[in-house]
Amino acid sequence: MDRTAQLIARPVEYTAVYDPAAPPGPPHLGAVRRGAVRVLEDNWTGSSTVPSRRLYPHQWSWDSAFVAIGLRHVSPLRAQTELETLLAAQWGDGRIPHIVFNPSVPLDAYFPSPDFWRSSTAGRAAGAPRTVQTSGIVQPPVHALAAWLVHRADPGLSRARGFLARVYPRLAAWHRYLLHRRDLGGGGLVSVVHPWEQGMDNAPSWDAPLARVAPAPARSFRRADLDHGAAEDRPTDLDYGRYVRLAADYRDAGYADGSGGFAVEDPSFNALLIASEHALARIARELGATATARHARAQRLTAALVERLWDPTEGMFFCRDVHGGGLVRERGVSGLVPLLLPDLPREVVAAVVRTLRGPHFGVGTTTRLVPSYDLLGEAFDPHRYWRGPAWFNTAWLLERGLRLHGHLADADALRAAVLDTALTSDFAEYVDPYTGEACGATGFSWTAALTLDLLHQNDTTTDKGGDRG
Ligand code: SER
Repeated sequence: MDRTAQLIARPVEYTAVYDPAAPPGPPHLGAVRRGAVRVLEDNWTGSSTVPSRRLYPHQWSWDSAFVAIGLRHVSPLRAQTELETLLAAQWGDGRIPHIVFNPSVPLDAYFPSPDFWRSSTAGRAAGAPRTVQTSGIVQPPVHALAAWLVHRADPGLSRARGFLARVYPRLAAWHRYLLHRRDLGGGGLVSVVHPWEQGMDNAPSWDAPLARVAPAPARSFRRADLDHGAAEDRPTDLDYGRYVRLAADYRDAGYADGSGGFAVEDPSFNALLIASEHALARIARELGATATARHARAQRLTAALVERLWDPTEGMFFCRDVHGGGLVRERGVSGLVPLLLPDLPREVVAAVVRTLRGPHFGVGTTTRLVPSYDLLGEAFDPHRYWRGPAWFNTAWLLERGLRLHGHLADADALRAAVLDTALTSDFAEYVDPYTGEACGATGFSWTAALTLDLLHQNDTTTDKGGDRG
């Protein structure tokens, strides 16, 4: 056992709310905690948290949900505010946009900027807000899970502010939008219409469906990401051309769903919806409403996920290319994320855990953190965004799944690796899965937030009626 693992194996006592005056814990963990809190302070704008000051200078949807999950240990009020700021930009049709733009940030600081998306005009029929500019696509629905966890950090404050009562109708409308407008494959699962929606932008699973998209000419736009990130860590220009074409076509169709040529059912996106549906059931119960229908829907969705995306031969879930017909057999970390679902059949859980430990992901053997893509895959690249590097949000989700299903030693080892790598990489956006070398931005908000959450793990319950599962 290395030094970090020994430290983490000891019981750790932390107060539920970060108290700077409290005596420090074990030295290494104290440094992790101080570093993570500092990142979240630096990236706080007064009403929400930017993922990274330079690379992503606005509010991102699933980033904010993950940030709130960690922020609840520092300030439950800020964590509630983070989610409420995002939800205030919800569209009339229920969608939560993937970016909420900060009007004080110069237009050329990030591409695509508000003048590309034109939400308040192009999105008018879909009910885009008039007073705030947003993108028109969505991101994974982690929000109800985040809202429930934030509530649990300080139920007294939450009740006093009516937090759950205010967010519940918005979260319910968000899930309705996804389930009713985005079942483009007709099998009960939600489709994404852009790789940015699923969040793992350049994952090799998108290569086949994206190949049918004619890229926008490189001279028609200017990438701002390359001003702040190394080109070899980022998606290629060809990828960007296709991202731009897809987004522009969606915008030009008034952000109406169902007409585009790109539609993919993704395991991670759908698993997060299911986990959030369970969380929404708990929120409903807390508010005195019945939760049975929501739990039952989550179970039906879990069955659809297994039926449509599970491959028993490969021991993992795959994306389904709705227009290309069939599963895209690229092994991505998205295909392991359903491990966080409580109703997954036992044989599926066992197979996913075997795949995680096996040669394609090397967890506990060859890798330091879970790679985003198959170590043996042709497209594997240890530094290029979602084509191999390890990310902290997927590690957090898998740690949760391993713990939920009783694989405690694997969960503890993954937790130790996250805490250690977060500190040594200066809270990097993503890292080389073998060496832990930092890639992309440092001082990345969800890395800090989810690290804080793992530090506070002893404060959370593990019962199924609690905040896990
Ligand atoms: N992840 C995308 C970017 O790199 C958009 O959300 O900008």
